[in-house]
Amino acid sequence: MPKETRNIKYLVEGIQTSDGAGVNLTRIIGSPELNMLDPFLLLDEFGSDNPNDYIAGFPPHPHRGFETITYMLNGKFTHEDTAGNKGHLSDGGVQWMTAGKGVIHSEMPEQTEGLVRGFQLWFNLPKEKKMIEPAYHDIQSDQIPVVEFEGGRVKVISGTFQDTTGPGRPHTGMMYLDIHLDSKQDITVPIANDWNGFVYVYEGSINANIGVPKGHLAVLDTKDDFLCSSSVENTRLILVAGEPLNEPVARGGPFVMNTKGEVLQAFEDYQSGRLG
Ligand code: CO
Repeated sequence: MPKETRNIKYLVEGIQTSDGAGVNLTRIIGSPELNMLDPFLLLDEFGSDNPNDYIAGFPPHPHRGFETITYMLNGKFTHEDTAGNKGHLSDGGVQWMTAGKGVIHSEMPEQTEGLVRGFQLWFNLPKEKKMIEPAYHDIQSDQIPVVEFEGGRVKVISGTFQDTTGPGRPHTGMMYLDIHLDSKQDITVPIANDWNGFVYVYEGSINANIGVPKGHLAVLDTKDDFLCSSSVENTRLILVAGEPLNEPVARGGPFVMNTKGEVLQAFEDYQSGRLG
């Protein structure tokens, strides 16, 4: 069967909010406008050169039932959990954290001046993996392969692009690319059929069946290839796609399970010290 082109279904703009101990961020998925895009539960963009926007960080808080993938474009963070795990994230690096049955961790900036910018994505775990052992995979910038071509480059964080496979180890099918394009540059990204996907343009703008300006997320339909072209110099976007889980989602703050009862259990386990 000939491949069909994936179109953009609609655009979403993030909302300004604050989380942790007062970190200003833009919530793009996990907002009233786009609650989730199975298997993705949340996408935050943080970006500021004003330390007041980020310095308070995210003091100890719990998670259960999913993974958090933090991609630092700029800046340094330290991650620490109550089980004694510690890791550092710096410019261009990714922390892939599997909360599984539960972690209590802090995510704190390691710098007091300069630009801090990046994304945190919440990636759901399937029912049978929600209570697995927590795990951390710190991926430094130089461990992320880059596909270079005339007019652009693609960092492959997870999944495969042009025979290059990224270091991400998702529990279900998932692709995460950071795409940089010069002006008027076309790119085609094959995506597994039926996967849900989006692009988020964080610099410049792109054109597909419709235009996507900076600061907008485009939800894609579920055909095969995504084709777009950059409109201006230095266009940057992330493209994320994943196999939908098609399972019930019960959310309660930092816990994402399949039923309300399991969320209540998570709160109970947290309060009684049985989590993390
Ligand atoms: Co966290």
